[in-house]
Amino acid sequence: MTAAVLEVENLRMEFRAPRNAGGRRVQAVRDVSLEVQEGEILGLVGETGSGKTTVGKCVVRLLRPTAGSIRFMGEDITAMPSSQLRPLRSRIQMVFQDPYSSLDPRMTVSQIVAEPLRAHGTHSRREAAGLVRRTVERVGLSQQVLDRYPNELSGGQRQRVGLARALVLEPRLLIADEPVSALDVSVRAGILNLLVDLQRTMGFSCLFITHDLSVAEFLCDRVAVMYLGEIVEVGTRDEVFGAARHPYTRSLLGAAPLADPVEQRSRQRAILPGEPPSAIDPPPGCSLNPRCPLADRRCTEEAPGPTQVSEGGHVVRCHRVQEQLDLEVARS
Ligand SMILES: Nc1ncnc2c1ncn2[C@@H]1O[C@H](COP(=O)(O)OP(=O)(O)OP(=O)(O)O)[C@@H](O)[C@H]1O
Ligand SMILES: [Mg+2]
Repeated sequence: MTAAVLEVENLRMEFRAPRNAGGRRVQAVRDVSLEVQEGEILGLVGETGSGKTTVGKCVVRLLRPTAGSIRFMGEDITAMPSSQLRPLRSRIQMVFQDPYSSLDPRMTVSQIVAEPLRAHGTHSRREAAGLVRRTVERVGLSQQVLDRYPNELSGGQRQRVGLARALVLEPRLLIADEPVSALDVSVRAGILNLLVDLQRTMGFSCLFITHDLSVAEFLCDRVAVMYLGEIVEVGTRDEVFGAARHPYTRSLLGAAPLADPVEQRSRQRAILPGEPPSAIDPPPGCSLNPRCPLADRRCTEEAPGPTQVSEGGHVVRCHRVQEQLDLEVARS
């Protein structure tokens, strides 16, 4: 049994909507539980607005969750005061989507990469300079960039700088939030391959946030699928990409939902109708029910709990899948 580096339980994050949107509450994350095991890459996938970034920001404590708990290396960090959090901060790092806005334009590359060391405050100047040089090299940049400013670098180079900053303290957990989606397609593969290499050699665990399924399939050991602030399916890469059960996951993959009577009819309609509902007014029952071809009355009234598809941890939240599984068990 491997150890969990990160355990998120029943995480909930509400924002107050802007006044022009009525000042109501936005339920960005409604109920998220997940684990990232030692040395694994867990993908968090889902459409825009499903709450992926909010989960990441709660984990690095850029946001304080409304409810739920976050454990890092077995320690509850949900409400830990900043003074206590400080030594742990270096162990969880985040890489952001936009390498243009996430790097301070007034700082040189060496200052940017040295920043976490400075904040951590345990390295001498010389040690810090050495670490910065080694880390810059590790992410595939030449020493010549050390004195450059972000605006003198390409998008791919900037994201490598962002990675170097995140990795300079050798974190145990890296939260990578869409690290390649703002980049030119031609440089994406280079960054993803680099991330895989670094993860193998440095051994950190990674929560990799993306809306791009092909990226998740390339990179991740396990994948969690989010819809409207909840995880609707989680499993290994093979389970999610080869044997998805949830109608939402299946629609993302362009496959028809699985259900004996309905399957024939819905085969043409792999794409779910409509748009995801707003996080201000999530529907009662299963959050997918207004768009789901399999939804019946129960789906509109009662939120589905987790159903285990396999022993290995393939879990789905769907009444209809649960019924199908019960049927399969009864038939066998
Ligand atoms: N600071 C905030 N104040 C109010 N609402 C917010 C705030 N941050 C996020 N939200 C809302 O919370 C929901 C989830 O947002 P989040 O950014 O976590 O989604 P996401 O899955 O990362 O989307 P994307 O793929 O576009 O990055 C959205 O409805 C968003 O508008
Ligand atoms: Mg996001």
